[in-house]
Amino acid sequence: MQITELTGPASAMQLVDLPEPESSHQFTPGRGVVVAVKAAGVSFPELLQTRGEYQFKPPLPFVPGSEVGGVVKEASEGGSLKAGDRVAAFCMLGGFAEAVVAPEHFCFTLPDALDFAQGAGLVLNYHTAYFALKTRGRLTQGETVLVHGAAGGVGTAVLQVAKGLGASTIGIVSSDAKERIAREAGADHVLRADGAWKDDATEVSGGGVDVVVDPVGGDRFTDSLRSLAEGGRVVVVGFTGGSIPEVKVNRLLLGNTEVIGAGWGAYVMSKPDVVRQIGAEVGHLIDQGFVRPIVGARFPLEDAGAALQLIDERGAVGKVVLDVS
Ligand SMILES: NC(=O)c1ccc[n+]([C@@H]2O[C@H](COP(=O)([O-])OP(=O)(O)OC[C@H]3O[C@@H](n4cnc5c(N)ncnc54)[C@H](OP(=O)(O)O)[C@@H]3O)[C@@H](O)[C@H]2O)c1
Repeated sequence: MQITELTGPASAMQLVDLPEPESSHQFTPGRGVVVAVKAAGVSFPELLQTRGEYQFKPPLPFVPGSEVGGVVKEASEGGSLKAGDRVAAFCMLGGFAEAVVAPEHFCFTLPDALDFAQGAGLVLNYHTAYFALKTRGRLTQGETVLVHGAAGGVGTAVLQVAKGLGASTIGIVSSDAKERIAREAGADHVLRADGAWKDDATEVSGGGVDVVVDPVGGDRFTDSLRSLAEGGRVVVVGFTGGSIPEVKVNRLLLGNTEVIGAGWGAYVMSKPDVVRQIGAEVGHLIDQGFVRPIVGARFPLEDAGAALQLIDERGAVGKVVLDVS
């Protein structure tokens, strides 16, 4: 599925026939793992790409799709993977296809406990969750984490990783259906985005939360700051709510709190060792049963536009996935 024009999810993409990719990735020129795609993950950046609104703007036409679950067709020379291995792979582009190439350090052996659709929801959201909570948010055992958009891809990943790191969890959602998903993902408390969530979060956390992970932004940002305990951190992850909040920094002084940016992609792209280390930490959390990507709607590859429209209409829960035969 190729983006041929920047007209939004319904009309931007076309099904085309292209040659199979060579085993060379732009991050590792001359080297790469060719993966037969079984499932492709669908995320917010691809939605933005159909309108030319994402920070990374490849020339048209291009095949979007940043991550997949699949089987190695052609391994990278000198690497640890071999043809036939089941993997979760982050490819950056090209995932909405039957075959894609990914850098070796972005391919992770898929444990038997996870199917291909879950593999397609593993790298972007769970590595971001670990990076936001631990690397940037300095989460420690016993702290309380509040996450906005808690039934979404990032939100469900943050809930599972936070539980695995020994935190108490509060999820903020907008509907009953999303409340069910947030609870399934491990939220100890679920509060409504249009309710008195700031006061309720302060109460259930016993005086304030330690870490807020915010993929939504918009109007609720000031209340996120107000919900913090002393020493608390708001970790900025995204802006699905549309507007980019501004901070009156006197609030940080008064509460001895912090606002921290967490841009996973920008940080890890040039650091294969960090990618492997986060992959190992997420792997432990899979082995311990904490990480189980929640797959929501599934579409055939050729209906990628409908999958992106679901995200655009705020209708997605968990990870949206394209099934590729
Ligand atoms: N910083 C990083 O490294 C990084 C990495 C990955 C993703 N991201 C970003 O994180 C954000 C979330 O991604 P995701 O995959 O979790 O998306 P998602 O599955 O669509 O979830 C986003 C959630 O945002 C909430 N939301 C509030 N207002 C919304 C609106 N006007 N439109 C759509 N959703 C709205 C929705 O929850 P409610 O309806 O319950 O409010 C929704 O469940 C995106 O901006 C993405 O680009 C950042």
